[in-house]
Amino acid sequence: MNQLFLSAEHVLQGGYFHSTLRKLQEPNTSIEAHNIMYPVFLLEDDNLIQPVASMPNVCRYGLHPLISHLEELVDKGLNSILIFGIVTALPKDASGSSADCPENPVLKALPKLRAKFPNLLIACDVCLCPYTSHGHCGLLTPNGAIDHAASVRRIAEVALAYAKAGAQIVAPSDMMDNRIKAIKDALVSCKLQNTVSVLSYSCKFASAMYGPFRDTMKSAPMEGDRKCYQLPPGSAGLAARAAARDVAEGADFLMVKPGLPYLDIVRQTKDKYPYHPLFIYQVSGEYAMICRCGDSSEVQTILMETLTSMRRAGADCIITYFAPLILNMINKKQ
Ligand code: PBG
Ligand code: ZN
Repeated sequence: MNQLFLSAEHVLQGGYFHSTLRKLQEPNTSIEAHNIMYPVFLLEDDNLIQPVASMPNVCRYGLHPLISHLEELVDKGLNSILIFGIVTALPKDASGSSADCPENPVLKALPKLRAKFPNLLIACDVCLCPYTSHGHCGLLTPNGAIDHAASVRRIAEVALAYAKAGAQIVAPSDMMDNRIKAIKDALVSCKLQNTVSVLSYSCKFASAMYGPFRDTMKSAPMEGDRKCYQLPPGSAGLAARAAARDVAEGADFLMVKPGLPYLDIVRQTKDKYPYHPLFIYQVSGEYAMICRCGDSSEVQTILMETLTSMRRAGADCIITYFAPLILNMINKKQ
């Protein structure tokens, strides 16, 4: 009878009883500094620092406190950041003119950050919602629909401004169709295509998990929602078509956002485009959820399991507000 149960060829436990063996059973799931990108919120006032109420340990920084914060993280091995500009003094209008006016905090900070941190890879989120009076990610027609052509033209203009100011990656999060080609064409026209890459928020879903971020950025739409441009949560098909379109238009990197509820989309995208590095944005709502999971040691264990799952699903880089904590964890392990 015992023979039926104890069949030698069905024993798996012999392959992972030792921690080194377990590592071999988890290929391509390690978390190193280059697998992490840190999103930062940049204020207009160079000396200000403001905690974000809905996100423990996350702050919005003016340039000077941001530099001090980054100095410490770069020392710990931080490889890359993603910058979001926030304006309160500059005007918000229908065309989002503050997105690329000379006083824009991102445009002003870029040359200084590049000079201060020559080895840090600097990406900039490109969108109009922090700068438009209506709070939408594109421009609107008089009757309130998205003006496709005008939006794409404007997004490309803003992306080019950030690229000229020193952004090494431009990352359009607006979800307007065809913006990748428009941005690539703009980069080519200024001979920047080989020193600036395009990270497309290709599979960005209309998620309820952006809540804390919209509070932080004060970028929630005044009227309506983003369901006409962000993808419906149930649509794997639109996600596949969006990724295919962005690859065809010249995206260097793809992204799935949010992460954890969309790991099937991560796998489908990686399987289809294995040669395009794939990013996950672990969004503000995911951050807030994990922070509430328990004490600091439980949070760390759950965070690592989550990041491992994302890597297993096919993500090469994870954009995460946990970057400072992750760097501490990585450094302690070594
Ligand atoms: C807006 C933008 C959003 C995020 C990044 N860029 C939110 C939105 O679409 O409303 C979400 C980031 C997060 O929740 O952490 N273009
Ligand atoms: Zn937006």
